[in-house]
Amino acid sequence: MNLVLTLAALTLIVVLGWSLRSRRHSIPCPSWLGWLIELDNPLFRNNRASAIVAGLGLRPGMAVLDAGCGPGRLAIPMAREVGPAGRITALDLQDAMLRKAAEKAKSAGLSNVAFRQADIAGGIRGDGPFDRATLVTVLGEVPDKRAALEAIFACLKPGGLLAVTEIIADPHFQRRASVISLAQGAGFHERCRTGGLLSYTLYLEKPAIAPTGEAR
Ligand SMILES: C[S@@+](CC[C@H](N)C(=O)[O-])C[C@H]1O[C@@H](n2cnc3c(N)ncnc32)[C@H](O)[C@@H]1O
Repeated sequence: MNLVLTLAALTLIVVLGWSLRSRRHSIPCPSWLGWLIELDNPLFRNNRASAIVAGLGLRPGMAVLDAGCGPGRLAIPMAREVGPAGRITALDLQDAMLRKAAEKAKSAGLSNVAFRQADIAGGIRGDGPFDRATLVTVLGEVPDKRAALEAIFACLKPGGLLAVTEIIADPHFQRRASVISLAQGAGFHERCRTGGLLSYTLYLEKPAIAPTGEAR
């Protein structure tokens, strides 16, 4: 019992310290913590890859951007859903994360995943337009959040969907209201949401028709 309490206290101290430090200088989740990202915590059910992917309504042949893909927790099941006629672009800042994801794709025999090392906020070039995009526990790590959301908006097809997931245990947790406000500023509409106080996923849509009546 003492060991459990000590571990819980240590975890809390690390999360709080990391959170405070990240306010001044963003520290992306290090690749050696990849195993932690992949744990299915029962407290955060709607952060499960299966739950997020189910909400995206993927179909064979779709093109999907996994922005801040980490070790490929979502990219791999999404690649299976879209099948050989579809494609996934798995994008991350860190080469070490991309290598982990690429190893997984290889051992799963998937050839429909492209890996890109880039900063989301710098604009997403080359592989779009996409039907779907995911930004799962990533936004808080990006210093220019508005630019990241605008870049994803720009590379989605009209009617395309972006899933943004946040969990409170993440040192970079973003409040739902501030994500909605940023996303609306970038042009998204909220289509639906899952989860609650501890974790949530917002499904954000790029409108098919701009308010002026022109296609975007
Ligand atoms: C906590 S991990 C989440 C990984 C994955 N989305 C998941 O849920 O399993 C955050 C990832 O976002 C990446 N990241 C952070 N800032 C980024 C940026 N500006 N552009 C691209 N990737 C970024 C980090 O390198 C890290 O792999």
